[in-house]
Amino acid sequence: MPDGLIVRVPAKINLHLEVVGRRSDGYHELRTLFQSVDLRDTLWGWPAEEGRLDLEIEPEGSVGSGSDNLIVRAARALWREIGRRPGARLKLEKRIPVGGGMGGGSADAAGALILLDRLWSLDLLPSDLCRLAAELGSDVPFFLHGGLGFGVGRGEEVLPLDDLPPFGVLLLVPPVEVSTAEVFSRLQPGPWKRQDDRVYAGITDGTPAIEWSAAFNDLERVVCEGWPLVGEALECVKRLGPVFSTVSGSGATVFGVFDSVDMAAQAAVGLEGQWRIEVVRMLGRTGARPEVVLENRRECGNN
Ligand code: C5P
Repeated sequence: MPDGLIVRVPAKINLHLEVVGRRSDGYHELRTLFQSVDLRDTLWGWPAEEGRLDLEIEPEGSVGSGSDNLIVRAARALWREIGRRPGARLKLEKRIPVGGGMGGGSADAAGALILLDRLWSLDLLPSDLCRLAAELGSDVPFFLHGGLGFGVGRGEEVLPLDDLPPFGVLLLVPPVEVSTAEVFSRLQPGPWKRQDDRVYAGITDGTPAIEWSAAFNDLERVVCEGWPLVGEALECVKRLGPVFSTVSGSGATVFGVFDSVDMAAQAAVGLEGQWRIEVVRMLGRTGARPEVVLENRRECGNN
């Protein structure tokens, strides 16, 4: 059995998300702050014969493993890029909520690009990986680096920013999957409000601080109205006294930021409701960057 590789990719939340206009390609122009959090999907990969792509997913059925899966699409994008079809056997352990606005599919796509680049000894340039990532989805380029990033355009142009202090984050994941396309299609088509730079003031001058009172998510109202369980979860988080709270991306996950992981954990004590609860910490770039490592056989057996 040849050596396999592993990559672990953390989820993101959006600490701020402004929709600043509609583009001629149908997408929306965004300004957003992506932040990695310590909740990860894990992808294993082993070489296989040419033209072969097998993908196993755990828990089984949590996402489809067919040609729509972003890992499969990432592998095929690499095939097109290099004009060859090296094979791979892949296994994904899914922990990031599906349809949860935490970039789960995008994280997997970025992980697949990085892992397969190594497995197949492609040595693609970072700029080529970034271009392929942007073609796979608006959020995918952010996951190549992680940490705190300022996203513009569709969200695919990312400026890495200095790390924030390790705030704690309480995540509530209601039992619904929200379609990003559906949320954007329900947005009022303007007039778009004037851009407000207060939220960025503390980070663009080099100081890692966010003006929380100026942060918001322009998708919050549409998601909470269209998916009432999301609105309920957000009301619940707000009552716990976080520094800041909103919906992540286009939902369904809602989050509260607390000064520390301990404070987030304390706030979660006794919390009841029909949602999955996670307490995580924000990750700096070093902890968030997806690193490919050799498979440890004792841990993973012959998987
Ligand atoms: O890029 P991605 O495939 O993740 O986007 C999913 C859908 O969300 C798009 O098809 C589009 O309808 C919508 N979207 C948008 N503007 C963005 C990002 C996504 O309208 N900036």
